[in-house]
Amino acid sequence: MSLEGLKPQVELIVRDETSSLDERLLNICKLLEENVPYYNWVGFYFKNGDKEELKLGPYVGEPTDHTIIPFGKGICGQVAVSNQNFVVPDVSAQDNYIACSITVKAEIVIPIFVDGENIGQIDIDSNTPDPFTSEDERFLEFVCKEVAAIL
Ligand code: SME
Repeated sequence: MSLEGLKPQVELIVRDETSSLDERLLNICKLLEENVPYYNWVGFYFKNGDKEELKLGPYVGEPTDHTIIPFGKGICGQVAVSNQNFVVPDVSAQDNYIACSITVKAEIVIPIFVDGENIGQIDIDSNTPDPFTSEDERFLEFVCKEVAAIL
């Protein structure tokens, strides 16, 4: 299925009022991981209350030890302070990177804004080298906007 073709399914999940927020977020992770071959770990991190750190939310993929990530640390922590998309074609070329699994080759992190404030992010790891294009960025920005509407 194309990324474009997944958009209506994202909308259906977000609008499913019979599911809790965390169930809906998990269902988005499942939809993406199951339908995009190069999305191998898909999860959400959110600002942990008023602390300068991210806390792991719903995710699909191998369990990670990195359930708390301080702002500024790793790809995720850098996005928490930069407010910018971060596309990493080759994780081995990054100094400030937190490895979760040796199979991961690339990563993309897109921030989620609510009322202009960066409150979290979607994080995707890929076992394929250099798989992400601007199409992934535009699609994941769409996903983050949809999610922001229910936070
Ligand atoms: N690689 C991330 C850590 C989170 S895991 O990918 C699940 C980072 O460098 O921030």
